[in-house]
Amino acid sequence: MAVTIHQLRQWKQQGRPISMLTTWDYAFATILDQAGIDVLLVGDSLAMVTLGYTTTLSLTLDEMLYHAQAVQRGVKQALVVCDLPFMSYQESPQQALRSAGKLLQSAGVAAVKLEGGYPDMAATVRYLVDRGIPVMGHVGLTPQSVHQHGGYRRQGTTEVDADRILQEAMALEQAGAFAVVLEHIPAVLAADITQTLTIPTIGIGAGLDCDGQVLVTADILGLSDWQPPFAKPYTNLRQSITAAVHQFCTDVQNRNVPK
Ligand code: KIV
Repeated sequence: MAVTIHQLRQWKQQGRPISMLTTWDYAFATILDQAGIDVLLVGDSLAMVTLGYTTTLSLTLDEMLYHAQAVQRGVKQALVVCDLPFMSYQESPQQALRSAGKLLQSAGVAAVKLEGGYPDMAATVRYLVDRGIPVMGHVGLTPQSVHQHGGYRRQGTTEVDADRILQEAMALEQAGAFAVVLEHIPAVLAADITQTLTIPTIGIGAGLDCDGQVLVTADILGLSDWQPPFAKPYTNLRQSITAAVHQFCTDVQNRNVPK
């Protein structure tokens, strides 16, 4: 049985943690899906980890659609959520609906994620949900606002900021979001938000008390050049791939490849 958004809420009630990883193409989608991940996020971090852009701001809706289509073709079980890229939803709820509709209709993903809280974003979430589009929220460090944040720094470290993030998460729930990502905020704030909301929280650099955890797949596999402090590498594929490629080059030089 494929994972549904309703199951995520049940899992929160049952205290069953939710696993989520990012993915960007068919090959990785099949591997992660068959390995039993609950939610696959076609995250806009693909802009940096697979397309070489310096921030997520450069990614276009058409590029995202291309990757989402490839991911969806590889998935049988996981719930697939796709990020709305920068400037594909900020203009108006109507623009957000057109962009989200394209991702659901042409890629077949189950839901979209967008960054930011209230009041504007909550109104946009309500607009999408009322028209049948499931939305995951994202508060705390929101990479599409990197220039406003002044870098990829931890958010919610002052009382005022922490309260703002809590209010944003509550506004997203009120607007009908089915889950919310909490990125790079103090663990105590994430725990508070998790207790306050009835929808699941999915943390990244937000402590252990969230209802689920998400990481960027390139980070856990050791594929990235750089990793954020909260990303635990589970293996070093960069090293393994380099060793395999060196061996192949040596074998070619020695005329030692299979005939
Ligand atoms: O794009 C992404 O990878 C994300 C995660 C950090 C949650 O939004």
